[in-house]
Amino acid sequence: MTKITLSVIKADIGSVGGHIKPSSEVINAVKEYIEKNGKNKIIDFNISHTGDDIAILMTHKKGKLNSEIHKLAFNAFMEGTKIAKEQGLYGAGQDLLKTAFSGNVKGMGPAVAELEFNERENEPFLFFAADKTEPGAYNLPFYLSFADPMFNSGLMLSPKMNKGFRFVIMDVSFTKGDKIIVLNAPEDMYDIAALLRDTSKYVIEGIFSRNTGEQVVAVSTTRLHNIAGKYTGKDDPVALVRVQGAFPATGEVVSPFAIVHYVAGFMRGSHNSPLMPVKRNSTISYFDGPSIVSCTAFCVHNGKLTEAVDVFDHPFWDYIREKASRKAIEIREQGFFGAAMLPYSELEYGGIVKRLEKLEKKFKIRKK
Ligand code: F6R
Ligand code: MG
Ligand code: MG
Repeated sequence: MTKITLSVIKADIGSVGGHIKPSSEVINAVKEYIEKNGKNKIIDFNISHTGDDIAILMTHKKGKLNSEIHKLAFNAFMEGTKIAKEQGLYGAGQDLLKTAFSGNVKGMGPAVAELEFNERENEPFLFFAADKTEPGAYNLPFYLSFADPMFNSGLMLSPKMNKGFRFVIMDVSFTKGDKIIVLNAPEDMYDIAALLRDTSKYVIEGIFSRNTGEQVVAVSTTRLHNIAGKYTGKDDPVALVRVQGAFPATGEVVSPFAIVHYVAGFMRGSHNSPLMPVKRNSTISYFDGPSIVSCTAFCVHNGKLTEAVDVFDHPFWDYIREKASRKAIEIREQGFFGAAMLPYSELEYGGIVKRLEKLEKKFKIRKK
């Protein structure tokens, strides 16, 4: 049986009216490029946007980090960028940090998450896309879905999940290569928690079933400012999660998103925002936020995708969106003070560094 690969590659290549939404023409250009040039390379695809990011979800048989597949997506973004430039969109091509393609899109700007597996008889999966935040935004919800019976009762109830899950966590502050650690839930729970609390440094890259050995979760771990050496927009993350059977149920994976936990991002990638679960193809608004996440459910069969189901398009999540709005307003009430703004090391604009350097010189140590 040939393995199927799900590849999602996403980039911000320009927006209408600020960093809020790509134009329909740009989205169409990306779609048409994949339609025309994807033949014989991919089996199926689906295009969506979350805030200012366009995501290309593809199914194929070529495995992870395949240069043909990555090049297809990269070229589609290049094509979209042409239109974005023609239309004068804001930040046209901003996530394409390099224009000469070399091997795969890792380190070139776009974010990528991929899963390769033997299709089960029924293969449901979820595709998450977040905007105005960073990859560590998924740390808390995925930790809760895969390690905490308070959110995933299947960990207690289902013999198919009784061995727990293996977490592969990356230190994304390390730029010379992939620095990872492998830890097992439940035995290493406290170690996993100790790392994942630090969302700007330690990021879940993958989660594996200890019952079946299969990979269940893949998260994009790109740090745009590590690649570019300066601020180019937050590294808005995508994730793929296989669900049901030996894996958490769809409802167990999405339930922690009802917390609307605070994540790094929001205005200028420099504030804390509640992560609001939104419908597919939502825009950004209040204070360049709040940080948003969308979730689409599919089944894949022989590489063919079913219709897309918008998981957060349900009355329950309207109530949660109100809670997220309340939490957003509450933290915004204190502007840039304390917990509202990110620590110095995570501020995305260099201006304050220069300002503080200038002030440092003016400090004097008082004589006793
Ligand atoms: C955050 C983001 C926006 C911009 C802000 C200022 O990730 O993209 O909040 O930082 O709109 O944008 P510039 O500096 O392009 O005017
Ligand atoms: Mg974005
Ligand atoms: Mg952006």
